[in-house]
Amino acid sequence: MDKIKVAIIGTGNRTRKVYTPLFKSLNNEIDIVAVCDPNKESCSEYANLLGVKPYYSIKELVNDKIINAALVVCPIDIHYAISVYLSENKIHHLIETSMCSTIEQGQIMVKKAEENNVIMRIAENFFRFPFDRIAREIKKTNFLGEIKRIVCYHDHTGYHNNSRWTYFFEEYPTSVQCIDHTMPTMPHNSMAHRQHTSEKFTSRFFHFPNDKLVIDQAANIKGMLGRTGRPGITSIEGARGAISRWITSNWFGDGEVRYCSNSSLENGAIADEIYPIINEAEKNCWTQTYVDLPSERVTFTNNNYHLSEENIKYTSPGTKNIIRDYYGSALMSAITDFTGAVMRNEDSEFTGEDALMSMMMESGAKESALNHGEAIKLPTNIELEVDKRQLNELEKKNGINPMDVEQIIDQSIARP
Ligand SMILES: NC(=O)c1ccc[n+]([C@@H]2O[C@H](COP(=O)([O-])OP(=O)(O)OC[C@H]3O[C@@H](n4cnc5c(N)ncnc54)[C@H](O)[C@@H]3O)[C@@H](O)[C@H]2O)c1
Repeated sequence: MDKIKVAIIGTGNRTRKVYTPLFKSLNNEIDIVAVCDPNKESCSEYANLLGVKPYYSIKELVNDKIINAALVVCPIDIHYAISVYLSENKIHHLIETSMCSTIEQGQIMVKKAEENNVIMRIAENFFRFPFDRIAREIKKTNFLGEIKRIVCYHDHTGYHNNSRWTYFFEEYPTSVQCIDHTMPTMPHNSMAHRQHTSEKFTSRFFHFPNDKLVIDQAANIKGMLGRTGRPGITSIEGARGAISRWITSNWFGDGEVRYCSNSSLENGAIADEIYPIINEAEKNCWTQTYVDLPSERVTFTNNNYHLSEENIKYTSPGTKNIIRDYYGSALMSAITDFTGAVMRNEDSEFTGEDALMSMMMESGAKESALNHGEAIKLPTNIELEVDKRQLNELEKKNGINPMDVEQIIDQSIARP
């Protein structure tokens, strides 16, 4: 297949800062021919930058029949409508994470894509970060015996982490329980326009087949109010050791494999063999992650190394001088996974069904919290109260029924 003719839908922050630097390295696969955003100023400026045609309406873009795929980088409120519209018009699409707002929306997105023979994927990035990549490779060696539990504190409860857990265990959970706790705080701002006077802590328990458990907890994940910074602590617990990662400086962590030898098991079972996880990069881009275990080197090679004349530096809010050298590659991996599926019919690492399960884990956790920790079975087919409330809130916020594709598709949706 020739290069895919692509439109970029949504010309905001993430498009400019994280997608755009990757385009040079992707130009064997994609040919960007248009950009689309109802914000005319932003759209025209970005179209100028790329030297392509601006569209202020998705309907007009689709009517012109110049694309066969789209990268959708818009507010979550509108992911559902855009996905359904693109599927109905036979346009493959990769949508930013999170997938959508309710389980029903996710189910329809998957169904519409299937019915129309369209590839629809979600650009989930967290399970593509180095620690999760190498952790799954280490699991495959069985070095730590059977791994039945993951405990995670203060990384990213929500859609991102849900996807990490199904990626690691390579299966879906069977139920979720969740308890929330809210407490008042000093007034504080997460962004200039977002003020908070309280803080919600959430504690989630995902039960996986064969008695495997993930415990995922966090309050405000931006590390405000002196809370633990990101990526928090992840402990992947096996029969004779653990894969651990802990916070070292904001947004970074160090990881290691902690192993109990036979003599340690007989005398206190304190891990006596520690194997550091090493991340390597060239020109600010992650190349590989490895750990030297006694019998072998376990490696994850980053096949999504991206070139850039400027050696793009992906930094985080508050850590402008620290380079997250893996960040661009994680997104690039989602994009090449998508183009591989479209162009070469390749299997995807994160399918529409996987994306839907992460959505079910999310709504299921919230529903459980609403019901004081009651277990919610997964996958779920019942209409959840939290999803009904979510739809009402979206309708109040945007003034349009979020399920009404035709009405909402060209609306300029504000940032949350
Ligand atoms: N994976 C991650 O870690 C991560 C991080 C940040 C953002 N995101 C996701 O990226 C997406 C975009 O976030 P952002 O920070 O760039 O937001 P943003 O507000 O900066 O940009 C969104 C853009 O979408 C445009 N838009 C609004 N309504 C539209 C419509 N009907 N059709 C086309 N365009 C429309 C807006 O005008 C704006 O230019 C969101 O889905 C968000 O969840 C993911």
